[in-house]
Amino acid sequence: MTGRLLIVDDERGIVVALKGLFTKEGYEVETAESGEEALAKIRAGLFHVVITDLSLNGMNGLDLMRSVRQLDPGCTVLMITAYGTQRIAVEAMKAGAEDYLPKPFDNDELRLKVRNVMEKQLLRRAYNRLIEQVNLDSGRFAEMIGQSGAMRRVFETIDKVAPTDVTVLLRGESGTGKELVARAIHSRSPRANRPFVAVNCAAFSHELVQSDLFGHERGAFTGALARREGKFEIADGGTLFLDEIGDMNLDTQAKLLRVIQEKRFERLGGNQSLAVDVRIIAATNQDLEAMVRDGRFREDLYYRIKVVEVRLPPLRERAEDIPALVIHFLKEACERFGTSSKTLTPETLRACVENPWRGNVRALKAAIEQAVILSVGAEITSAELFGSAVPEEASRAVGSLETVSDQAGRGGAAASLTAAGALNFREAKERFVTQWERNFFLNALKASGGNISRAAERAGMYRQSFQQKIRELGINVQELGPKSDDE
Ligand SMILES: Nc1ncnc2c1ncn2[C@@H]1O[C@H](COP(=O)(O)OP(=O)(O)OP(=O)(O)O)[C@@H](O)[C@H]1O
Ligand SMILES: [Mg+2]
Repeated sequence: MTGRLLIVDDERGIVVALKGLFTKEGYEVETAESGEEALAKIRAGLFHVVITDLSLNGMNGLDLMRSVRQLDPGCTVLMITAYGTQRIAVEAMKAGAEDYLPKPFDNDELRLKVRNVMEKQLLRRAYNRLIEQVNLDSGRFAEMIGQSGAMRRVFETIDKVAPTDVTVLLRGESGTGKELVARAIHSRSPRANRPFVAVNCAAFSHELVQSDLFGHERGAFTGALARREGKFEIADGGTLFLDEIGDMNLDTQAKLLRVIQEKRFERLGGNQSLAVDVRIIAATNQDLEAMVRDGRFREDLYYRIKVVEVRLPPLRERAEDIPALVIHFLKEACERFGTSSKTLTPETLRACVENPWRGNVRALKAAIEQAVILSVGAEITSAELFGSAVPEEASRAVGSLETVSDQAGRGGAAASLTAAGALNFREAKERFVTQWERNFFLNALKASGGNISRAAERAGMYRQSFQQKIRELGINVQELGPKSDDE
C-alpha cells in the first residue's frame, strides 16, 4: 500500500527507527523534529497520516494536531504517548486524534494501526473524489443512474429505439430496472404525452389477465357485472408495458399476437372490433428460448416481441455503478424522510460495492432507505446498512424484506414470506431494531468516552436502565478502549 506519512518527534532515535519501519512497509515517509518543522512540511505537501509525539519541545503535540486539522481536515493524526500520559491521550482523541500509540512501541501493533488508518484515509479520499464526480451528474439518463459500459449501451439503445414504434423486449433479473427502462423509452418517444400503461401478465388467473388486457362486456363471465375497458384501450396512442410476459398462457399469447398483427381486438364477450394504436414493450426474466422449444411460448409471438432486445445486467456485474447509485439513493431518501443529509463511511461504501446484491438495484435502494431511517449518526456504518456483520447474508434479509413490502404494495399475496431462507417480518424487524440499538448505545458510550452516567444522561435514560440495556445487548464497556472517568 502507498501513502504519505509524516513522523514528528524530537527524539532523533525514534524518528530514525520509525522512518525505517514504515519505509519498509512501502510508505513515503518524511520526518520532522519539531511542531514548527512539521507544519511547514504539511503546508508544502499532502500527508495522509501524521504520527506525532505528544510532548515536543516548543509547540506540543496537541497544538500541532489542532493546526494540522485546520490545515487539512482530511489528514489522520496518531499520537505517541509515553507511559503515564494515557489521560492526555484520551483528551487528544476527543480533540480529533484518530488513535494513540503508547511508548515503548510494539512494532507489529504499530504497523497494523498505521495500515488501518492509512487504508481508511485512502478510502475516504477516494470516496470524496467520487462524491465530487457524482455531483456532476454525468452518469444520469432520465431517472436512471449508470456510468458503466453496460448501462451506457443500454442508454444508447433507448435513444435509438425511443423515436420509433418498434417492439422492445427487456430482459434481466428482478430489480435491475426493466420497468424504469420501459418508462424511459416511453417518455422519450413521440407518445410521451399519451398514457404509459403497465400490465402484469403474472396475475393469479389468465382470465383476469385477458380481461385486464382486452376488457370485457357485461356478462362475459361470472362476475363481469359491467363493461370494462381493457389496458389496450386505455393505452391507445401510448405505450403498453407487458411485464412478466413469460407467464402469459398460450391462449392469451394467441390473442395478443392477433392484436399486434391486426391492430384490432374485441373485448371479452363482445363482437365489436376495436382499432388500437399502441407501442408494446415487454419484459421478462425467463428463458423464452427454452419456452419456445418446449412449446410453452409461441415462436411467432417471440419474434414479434423481440424486434429489439435490451439486456439489463445484474448489479454485481456493474459494480462501478454502485457508488453513484448509493449517493443518489441517499440523497433521495434523506429528502423523502426529512432527515439531514447522510453519507456512508468509506468502509460501508466498499462493502456495498463488494456485495453481490441478489435483489439488484431494488435491494440496494431498500437497504439505503432502511439505513437512513435507522442510522444514528451522519455517517452510516456497515452494521447499520447490512444489519449484520455479514453483508451477503444481510443483503438477502434486506432483499426479502423489500420484496415482501413491494409485493404487498402491488396487492399480491405475501407468500414469499415463507420462502426458504427468508426472514419473516418479525424476525427481520427484530434484527434491525437490535442492530440499531447496539449502534445507538455504542455511539452514546463512545461520545461519552465510556462514561456510563454521562452517556445515560445524554440518552435521556436512568443510569440503571442504560446499564441494563447495554448488558442485554452484550456491549462490553471495556472493549471501547480507555475511559476518562471512574466507571
Ligand atoms: N439505473 C437505475 N438508477 C436508479 N434507480 C434504479 C435504476 N435501476 C433500478 N432502479 C430502481 O430500482 C427499483 C427496481 O427497478 P424496476 O422496478 O425497474 O426493476 P425491474 O427490473 O422491473 O424488477 P422486477 O423484475 O422485479 O419487476 C426501482 O425503485 C427503480 O427506480
Ligand atoms: Mg418490474
